[in-house]
Amino acid sequence: MINFSSPKHKNIKNIDSYLKVIKKVILSGNYILGKNVKSFEKKLKNYFNCRYAITNNSGTDSLIMSLMCLNLKKNDEVLVPSHTASATLTSLRLMQYNYRFVDIDYETMNINLDDMKKKINKNTKVIIAVHLYGNPCEIEKIKSICKRKRIFLIEDCAQAFGANYKGKKVGTFGDFGCFSFFPTKNLSAIGDAGAVITNNKKFYQNLLKVRQYGWDKNRVSLINGINSRCDEIQASILNLKINSINKDNNLRNKIATTYNEKLKNLPLKLPISNNDFYHTYHLYVIKVPKLLRDKIINYFKQHKILLGIHYKKPCHKMKNFVKKNTYLPITDKVTSEIISLPIYPELKNKEQIRIIKLLKKFYKNNTH
Ligand SMILES: Cc1ncc(COP(=O)(O)O)c(C=O)c1O
Repeated sequence: MINFSSPKHKNIKNIDSYLKVIKKVILSGNYILGKNVKSFEKKLKNYFNCRYAITNNSGTDSLIMSLMCLNLKKNDEVLVPSHTASATLTSLRLMQYNYRFVDIDYETMNINLDDMKKKINKNTKVIIAVHLYGNPCEIEKIKSICKRKRIFLIEDCAQAFGANYKGKKVGTFGDFGCFSFFPTKNLSAIGDAGAVITNNKKFYQNLLKVRQYGWDKNRVSLINGINSRCDEIQASILNLKINSINKDNNLRNKIATTYNEKLKNLPLKLPISNNDFYHTYHLYVIKVPKLLRDKIINYFKQHKILLGIHYKKPCHKMKNFVKKNTYLPITDKVTSEIISLPIYPELKNKEQIRIIKLLKKFYKNNTH
């Protein structure tokens, strides 16, 4: 069986080195926020060339903790795309913050700047820019709008570790860069973990408190907080994996280039690539005619290949997130056409060729 994503391959390949560091942690007797966490946070700071990095328990917590630093008022509003992982919206609902959905661009499937500008009003206090699939959004322009209008910018980089826009890494544009190290992510733990990066000292000091019960250095709770500590076992594995993240992202790009070349003559839409940015291809998402989508997925399933849909239901249509009078035509259209093809650094060339051949064969038999 080939899956659209497969963390198992890397973890099995490196099992001995992972077991070695896990054993070291067990023997150390220090399991939470210890020297592995410190060293991983240092590596994150170096990687992003940023002033502060704080690890935690998940990408969702990264968003929640960032939002907690902003203390929004009753009428304040957050702009957010609906075409994203539910986690993005979960954080807003949990904080009970007001939000307004923004449509996406058909080609990039990231936040649409025209719609975003239209929806900015005097209550807009935060924009969450999601670099979906590992594809950087137009973050430079978004940042300059935020700066002009005094709006906080949160980058949801859960799928985009190592992606860059004109050479500058995503996550370093906004007030907060939020990351997830969920097992399927490009940089992944063997469990849950996440991190927030920022250049703002005040936010950093707040994040430190929020991560642990609102505690100050003397363990006195000063503000509302949660428990979202990164554990030493996950940090010890991430400390090893971060060393090969650029290589892994390049391997994903190589696989994407092969798909781009071999599929370009089929009647489907390929992800766009552009010299201005570096896509990390967390997911390789194509668009196919709506009426063919289920047929393609079933056809591949018969051949033991599991394709994905990210995401089947946009957030604005989920019961918990639904907002009255929301009209997002591009999001709705994209949702009915997308398919995620298998992509991960260990995907073998012969497996990819098989996937490409199957797709060509499907189109040959189904379109006339
Ligand atoms: C875009 C996006 N944001 C946030 C998250 C949340 O990350 P986590 O699963 O680590 O909470 C995810 C993970 O699925 C994601 O894809």
